[in-house]
Amino acid sequence: MKRYLTGIKPTGYMHLGNYFGAVKPAIEFSKRDDIDAFYFIADYHALNMLPNGAEMTDLTKHIACAWLACGLDPNKVCFYRQSDIPEIFELNWILCNVTPKGLMNRAHAYKAAVEANAAEGRDQDDRVNMGLYNYPILMAADILAVSADYVPVGLDQKQHVEMARDICTYFNNKYGKILKTPDVYIDTNCATLAGLDGRKMSKSYNNTIQLFCDESTLRKTINKIVTDSRMPGEPKPLDCTINKLYKLFATEEEKVAFDKALSEGLGWGDAKKQLYEIINRYISPMRDRYNYYMQHFDEVEAMLRAGAAKVRPIVQDLLSRIRHAIGVVDISK
Ligand code: TRP
Repeated sequence: MKRYLTGIKPTGYMHLGNYFGAVKPAIEFSKRDDIDAFYFIADYHALNMLPNGAEMTDLTKHIACAWLACGLDPNKVCFYRQSDIPEIFELNWILCNVTPKGLMNRAHAYKAAVEANAAEGRDQDDRVNMGLYNYPILMAADILAVSADYVPVGLDQKQHVEMARDICTYFNNKYGKILKTPDVYIDTNCATLAGLDGRKMSKSYNNTIQLFCDESTLRKTINKIVTDSRMPGEPKPLDCTINKLYKLFATEEEKVAFDKALSEGLGWGDAKKQLYEIINRYISPMRDRYNYYMQHFDEVEAMLRAGAAKVRPIVQDLLSRIRHAIGVVDISK
């Protein structure tokens, strides 16, 4: 059995782009019998972006309920909260001591911050704190702590996984082969969705459709989809945003019928109504589960703690070998 580990940063409300691009494929993947999946909420990776405690609590809760509502099975997947495993942070510190500073200087996120400062004529490290700077080391700790074989991530995270590999090598060269070298696993056929303005659906473009908003908000959001000025009765282009989104939810017959209606001049307003109906049909049962979990968060809390209880002994066992190797007393033994 190979271990696949990935972290989910609780920095925003889940939208359709996240769902089809990452969440749904990850959940489907986790159902395979030949893999051991570790999916965790990377709350301490989000700390830098969420300086407000209430927001941190709220988004962590949201992400946990959302993944469960989307069908993640916590009996099949180790689903836990990073902050529930203190040994990860101990490993983080240990790894800091084998990581050359120069490696961190090359991290994309840090370099982008430095370049932005330079462009604005500010000191190069203005608004750069050590949380941002050390981010890749904490991520290496997440991965190496459970001896993950593969790390499924988007392309934007590839460099971080490569850094985890480097850090792993530095450690093993110094202390013996204790850590497992992880491989990056890039799913290239992950979908990107069109957002309200036709650009890629993304929180940073403010063009998303939230997955678990209520029906009236969903309807209002769909009404904001940008269309051209063609009037009812005029044929509509089939590659429009509405049709692209509609296709994700429709049966084969519905797809054919919708194409036909658009080419025959369905009005944009009616097209949006039909899009709303089909999205809502798909989301309704998920939204019910989401609302249930949000209202019974004690059940979710128990699942997360059970997840941490499964993972923690694995990390503790590794940490006790590491403590031995670095010459620090291990009082757990
Ligand atoms: N940095 C990742 C992101 O921004 C989240 C993350 C944290 C992660 N720890 C991880 C991903 C470990 C994979 C493995 O999306």
